[in-house]
Amino acid sequence: MVSKIIIVVFHILLCLEFRLTKGQSWIKAGYWFSGSEFPVSNINSALFTHLICAFAPVNSTSYQLSPSASDEKHFSNFTNTVKQKNPSVTTLLSIGGGNERLYGFQGLDLCWVSANTSMDMSNMGVLFQEWKGAIDLESRNSSRTPLILTAAVQYSPNLDSASFPIDSIQQYLNWVHVMAYDFYMPTWSNFTGAQAALYDPSSTTNADYGIGTWINGGLSADKIVFSLPFYGYAWTLVNPANNSIGAPATGPAITEEGDMSFKEIKDYISRYGAIVMYNATYVVNYCSIGTSWIGFDDVEVVKIKVSYAKERNLLGYFVWQVPYDDNWLLSQAAAGQEDNKNGQNNQRVLVIILTTTAAVILLIGILIYYCCIRFKMLKSSKGKVNSAKDSKNKRNSTAAGDFNSNAPNLIVYNLTDIEVATNNLSIENKLGEGGYGPVYKGVLQDGQEIAGFRVLGFCIDREEQMLVYEYMPNKSLDHYLFDPIRWFILDWKKRVDVIEGVTQGLLYLQEYSRLTIIHRDLKASNVLLDENMKPKISDFGMARIFTKDGDEANTERIVGTYGYVPPEYARRGIYSTKSDVYSFGVLLLQIISGKKVSILYGENDDISLLDYAYKLWKDDKGMDFMDPSLDDTFSSCKLMTCLHIALLCVQETPNDRPTMVEVFSMLKNEATYKTIPKKPAFSRQTDENEQNKSAMHLEVCSVNDATISEVVAR
Ligand SMILES: *[C@@H]1O[C@H](CO)[C@@H](O)[C@H](O)[C@H]1NC(C)=O
Ligand SMILES: *[C@@H]1O[C@H](CO)[C@@H](O)[C@H](O)[C@H]1NC(C)=O
Ligand SMILES: *[C@@H]1O[C@H](CO)[C@@H](O)[C@H](O)[C@H]1NC(C)=O
Ligand SMILES: *[C@@H]1O[C@H](CO)[C@@H](O)[C@H](O)[C@H]1NC(C)=O
Ligand SMILES: *[C@@H]1O[C@H](CO)[C@@H](O)[C@H](O)[C@H]1NC(C)=O
Ligand SMILES: *[C@@H]1O[C@H](CO)[C@@H](O)[C@H](O)[C@H]1NC(C)=O
Ligand SMILES: *[C@@H]1O[C@H](CO)[C@@H](O)[C@H](O)[C@H]1NC(C)=O
Repeated sequence: MVSKIIIVVFHILLCLEFRLTKGQSWIKAGYWFSGSEFPVSNINSALFTHLICAFAPVNSTSYQLSPSASDEKHFSNFTNTVKQKNPSVTTLLSIGGGNERLYGFQGLDLCWVSANTSMDMSNMGVLFQEWKGAIDLESRNSSRTPLILTAAVQYSPNLDSASFPIDSIQQYLNWVHVMAYDFYMPTWSNFTGAQAALYDPSSTTNADYGIGTWINGGLSADKIVFSLPFYGYAWTLVNPANNSIGAPATGPAITEEGDMSFKEIKDYISRYGAIVMYNATYVVNYCSIGTSWIGFDDVEVVKIKVSYAKERNLLGYFVWQVPYDDNWLLSQAAAGQEDNKNGQNNQRVLVIILTTTAAVILLIGILIYYCCIRFKMLKSSKGKVNSAKDSKNKRNSTAAGDFNSNAPNLIVYNLTDIEVATNNLSIENKLGEGGYGPVYKGVLQDGQEIAGFRVLGFCIDREEQMLVYEYMPNKSLDHYLFDPIRWFILDWKKRVDVIEGVTQGLLYLQEYSRLTIIHRDLKASNVLLDENMKPKISDFGMARIFTKDGDEANTERIVGTYGYVPPEYARRGIYSTKSDVYSFGVLLLQIISGKKVSILYGENDDISLLDYAYKLWKDDKGMDFMDPSLDDTFSSCKLMTCLHIALLCVQETPNDRPTMVEVFSMLKNEATYKTIPKKPAFSRQTDENEQNKSAMHLEVCSVNDATISEVVAR
């Protein structure tokens, strides 16, 4: 058994989509409100696992469900209608009591529950218990699956004068919809605000804090379904020039109370050609048009929030509300491109034959990584992380048996799967020779099990070791940057996307993931482009993971790639997040110039790429550095800004280099950095001795963008 296993682990790829082993149980819920007048038959049910029909009013005298005649019509047809497009979607009725079976609903959602005395809160606990009792009884009596019981609750359990009955929620509800929005509204706040901020460094009014208090209060993460508001608010600014988050305002704009659906916001923005800004401190989008200021969640925020929910091992997300979406833009972003194809979709993979050494090193790396994650999980969650109740995922269960019953990151496959996928590693499926060995393309049957994941897999079978990768149809960035023909495919707009994608990726690694991850080998060939030319940082074989407080380390063994490693690392083996910032700077120089690091430049062909860029920039001839085919006229991201940022990133002293957060806001023009870059690292003009030493040191390795391995620091 042991000899014939493939361990598939998740590849931390940075499209900000994350791991979930139990694909089936990840909840993608959406509310539909009967008052929205959006036809139920128009709901794209395929994008959701659960649809919640809101709201069935309760008669406050009789405590019975008392829908109006028109509600009744909606409710009775809701389940049938949405199941036409997605038979496996589960429906819930929000609020209500009594006869939901009559309408064919499969669950109940108690919406907006809250109370302001501890007596009422404990009564709420009793209510949940009674509901659960009634549901179980009904289920036994009717021998049907029990109804799902959920509630929509506030973003934090202790907001009002009393706390939510967490024990009762944990015990009797299937999950709660945690509503982390409406933090600020123009009707009562006279400062613009991020109404659904994920983070807020200066206050506890933010989603991350709320989720933390629920979990610390004893609610397990897999009972929490996280909110995605598909709407925003518009404020009237006091001063149109002061249009940041927190700027003074005098009340609602555009609509009576300032609330606007995503669709209305999109329409408004395109009508006035406003520029949408993104603020990574709060994770929110905003824009201003004259005195109107709109804060909302655009596609990028939705993606970040979903990956946040996955990373915190929450149960899923819900949207308020489905009809607010614009052509399913947000719903699709939330569901992820792969997730919406259910059924027999096939997972394309790359199989790479490894040498034994590489395999052993990688295996150890993966185990260490796995242990770190596992340790972190044990520390951060009191309860069991994973109930492994997904019986459909047989392979997953096998993995659980072999390694650890809670292993969320490991799946075991048979070697035959890979052989079938690659047609017995046939020559037709061979793509070429990679750094590790021959590379094969293949299609995994039964893609369902791993569909939606990016995988980096492993196979150990006596003599042969294999790595399984997600197949990237469009190759890595270096195939475009350094190819005279493909170069033109990447126009400036696409390049800006690549730069932003890589920046987001690094931001995620350094700031938004719970651990600080240093990649250590960021370079053009490790930036993979997908079919939409969106970048993903790959090859975490050399990455190091830290807890948030320790972010600098020392290594005996220098790895990385010539031209991309910063001086403190090449000379003294010290690396930190600023090492990746340095590599990012080099990459940025290459993206704007198309020039390689391994070649010398200047009139006499005697200066490095970094020195060359610096010299031209200093002589006010920065545009001479850029590739002449790039045109930034119609882009808010300018070539010269990128050159400036790149030069700041490649400075000699790590402390002089900006953080990725600063890089991000400079790219977004949210901050202009007046800082003049100092001489780049490894500059000819610096101390001669230092230069010679490092030259000697680095000569060990080949020059042509090759990976440095086993270069021992002195
Ligand atoms: C609520 O129920 C009571 C008692 O059944 C009934 O008299 C009353 O009309 C109902 N109210 C509404 C608004 O339906
Ligand atoms: C319910 O839906 C079906 C088809 O989806 C439709 O033919 C029927 O008229 C609907 N009934 C009501 C009461 O809306
Ligand atoms: C408690 O809630 C009730 C009903 O929601 C409300 O009428 C009352 O004013 C609240 N009391 C306090 C002290 O907030
Ligand atoms: C169980 O089912 C019977 C017959 O369908 C019904 O009369 C009875 O009220 C049900 N009991 C409960 C508790 O639902
Ligand atoms: C986000 O906005 C706040 C308030 O305007 C500002 O202080 C902060 O620097 C911004 N963050 C980013 C990353 O732009
Ligand atoms: C914007 O408003 C804030 C709050 O009143 C103030 O502190 C800040 O100086 C203003 N900024 C500008 C650029 O006017
Ligand atoms: C802000 O709100 C307070 C209280 O609602 C009000 O007194 C003040 O005038 C408002 N300020 C602005 C600038 O609208």
